[in-house]
Amino acid sequence: MTAERFAAARNDPGLVVLEGFHAVKHALRFGAELLELAAPDCGRVLELAAELAPDLADTFAARLDQIRPEVFAGLATPAPPTGVLAIARRPEDTSPAALDGPGPAVLLERPRHHGNLGAAVRVAAAAGAAAVLTTGDADPWHPAALRGSAGLHFALPVARVDDIPRSGRPLVALDPEGVLLEPGAVPSRALLAFGSERRGLDQSLLARADLRLAIPMRPGVSSLNLATAVAVVLYLAAIPGT
Ligand SMILES: C[S@@+](CC[C@H](N)C(=O)[O-])C[C@H]1O[C@@H](n2cnc3c(N)ncnc32)[C@H](O)[C@@H]1O
Repeated sequence: MTAERFAAARNDPGLVVLEGFHAVKHALRFGAELLELAAPDCGRVLELAAELAPDLADTFAARLDQIRPEVFAGLATPAPPTGVLAIARRPEDTSPAALDGPGPAVLLERPRHHGNLGAAVRVAAAAGAAAVLTTGDADPWHPAALRGSAGLHFALPVARVDDIPRSGRPLVALDPEGVLLEPGAVPSRALLAFGSERRGLDQSLLARADLRLAIPMRPGVSSLNLATAVAVVLYLAAIPGT
């Protein structure tokens, strides 16, 4: 039964639930192994695929299973307005090798909000970051984080780690008390550390950092949203010649 399979997938560390068309689209585009794809109105999802992801229209057509609207409504809270849900295999944890790739990498220290975490993954994928690692309790592959990333978790390694990995990358702490961020300030292949929404970065991480950088803000503004800060720094680092 579909309802049981989705309920089981939510408790299976080897599986993830993808909520909504964009999450499914990106997951498929970046190589996700889909186990289930369900919609109460397949025709509507196929129209979306034709319009927004013609490269995947055949895959959607071949894989979609129509399910009753009342069953679909019970599979996710809130039910995704684009009317499609999927179960995919969670990629193996590649955290030891995740920092080997080119480009800056992102470390989120104890993020609390899955939506923020997902938004950070989304911009990291778009900006070509090597990986997103997280510490703390939040599961970076929680369905709400996958919703926030629009499924872009599948575009780069995303993993939870117990401690700051030793990678040979310069550790750069993003901290409103640091030196002002300007073009050229982000060392290449940096491990960029961002603090939790409420408490910022731990003193222990700040003490280990090779550099502390602050994003300039108008007086009176105390901080930027976590994912916004990630976006500013990654794009500044990505612009050639900066
Ligand atoms: C919402 S902020 C945390 C605010 C927290 N109340 C604090 O005291 O730091 C989340 C993270 O985004 C980064 N951040 C936000 N605004 C920043 C800024 N202007 N400069 C550097 N980092 C910033 C920091 O890493 C911060 O820990």
